[in-house]
Amino acid sequence: MSTQFDLLIRNATVIDGTGADRFHADIGINGDRIVKIGHLSECTAKEEIDLKGQVAAPGFIDAHTHDDRMMLSNPEMTPKVSQGVTTIIGGNCGVSLAPMPRPIPDPVTPPLNLLDDEGGWFRFPSFKSYLDALRAEPSTTNRAMLVGHTTLRVATMDDFEKPATTEQIQAMRELVVEAMQAGAIGVSTGLFYEPAVASPTEEVIEICRPLKDYNGLYCTHMRDEADGIMDSLEETFRIGREVGVPVVISHHKLVGAKNHGRSDETLEFIRQSMAKQPICLDCYPYTAGSTVLSMSRAQTSSRVIVTWSKSLPEYAGQDLDKIAEKMGVSQADAVDRLLPAGAIYFRMDEGDVQKILQFAPTMVGSDGLPHDASPHPRLWSTFPRVLGHYRRELGLFSLETAVHKMTGLTAVNFGLTDRGILKEGAYADLTLFDEETVDEVATYENPIAMARGIHAVIVNGVVVWDHGKATGARPGRVLSRPRK
Ligand code: ZN
Ligand code: CU
Repeated sequence: MSTQFDLLIRNATVIDGTGADRFHADIGINGDRIVKIGHLSECTAKEEIDLKGQVAAPGFIDAHTHDDRMMLSNPEMTPKVSQGVTTIIGGNCGVSLAPMPRPIPDPVTPPLNLLDDEGGWFRFPSFKSYLDALRAEPSTTNRAMLVGHTTLRVATMDDFEKPATTEQIQAMRELVVEAMQAGAIGVSTGLFYEPAVASPTEEVIEICRPLKDYNGLYCTHMRDEADGIMDSLEETFRIGREVGVPVVISHHKLVGAKNHGRSDETLEFIRQSMAKQPICLDCYPYTAGSTVLSMSRAQTSSRVIVTWSKSLPEYAGQDLDKIAEKMGVSQADAVDRLLPAGAIYFRMDEGDVQKILQFAPTMVGSDGLPHDASPHPRLWSTFPRVLGHYRRELGLFSLETAVHKMTGLTAVNFGLTDRGILKEGAYADLTLFDEETVDEVATYENPIAMARGIHAVIVNGVVVWDHGKATGARPGRVLSRPRK
């Protein structure tokens, strides 16, 4: 029997995303689906790729992004596609581009300015209008979107330093209902950030109430990732229990020298709590984080690199201490002159990063900031760094496990049906790479650089990336969680 496929991938080492051992096979694709995995040497196809034994894996799912605007302003999504990402989870850390039913404050309230410091992109009055725009002008990658609590606060409240009133909670809850009906997958919070710090746990619970009816998720950049980490984990789990939904701990880390080494304690608590309620977590593979610039964060860091500055853009990419020296002022004064601005903060411990990455339930997410002038290298190199540095060089886990953490595990946790897995009937999202050469290229010094070893990337059966070049196709779709 000789079937004709649209696309046939020959001689692949198949790593299917479930964590199972690799096997050798050909993969036949018709339309947007994988229709056959097996020995297909008799078959023909309109288009063929001979992998000669290299790896075919499910396309990587970036569990944590801030790509809400990049999908519209840079729909080719090169930082993501070039490292093998085929699906992104957006709207994290309480920050989503939509809904914004009234004019955004000028200057744009941090950290919403991470998406757009001018404000013009906060133009979608409803979540539906935003998702419609994504559908009308598709990007290369698929996307599943969260609605951000901080965005809701900015859309609803004038004084963020207070808890929301009953009326404001009601207004935010209605925006959550609208977002979930339109196809959002859940709510994210950034309780760590100034516009949400004053939100009591009860406010979050009440705003998230509708999530249960829509099978939504609760994702959080927790209130405290430093001394108060255990209380923050408790708070997160309580919100999940009271709302009755799964929780996602975003970019789990331990901040500040005196908390280094505490991942033993946090991971044990997470493990125990997972036995009682649905919990998942993601992690980026670096000891430095990145967000808006502030002196308080700089003070707990061993090194600070400025990633962008609206008032003094020429300092992007330079260390804060050197900038202060050049200006002849204190670091605190330099920060004042640079604001609004962003920075990379070195304040985690390599041992914790490795333990968290190795923890079986941990997914890989980049937390990349696509609009920074000199971004954290995680934007371009998260996935190849896990496959190259942490898997091949340090041997933290097998390649099958590494791939599972960026595909099958993530798809299951986020409810992305028939994604993140290579099997007959699944969507044809694939990343084809060389396990011996796949590696990060972006560094803190040279952060904008394409990964090595990613041969081709296929989204919904369409090749979007081929040997270092975009093909121009943009087959990405809006993904939602199934309703119960
Ligand atoms: Zn965050
Ligand atoms: Cu984030």
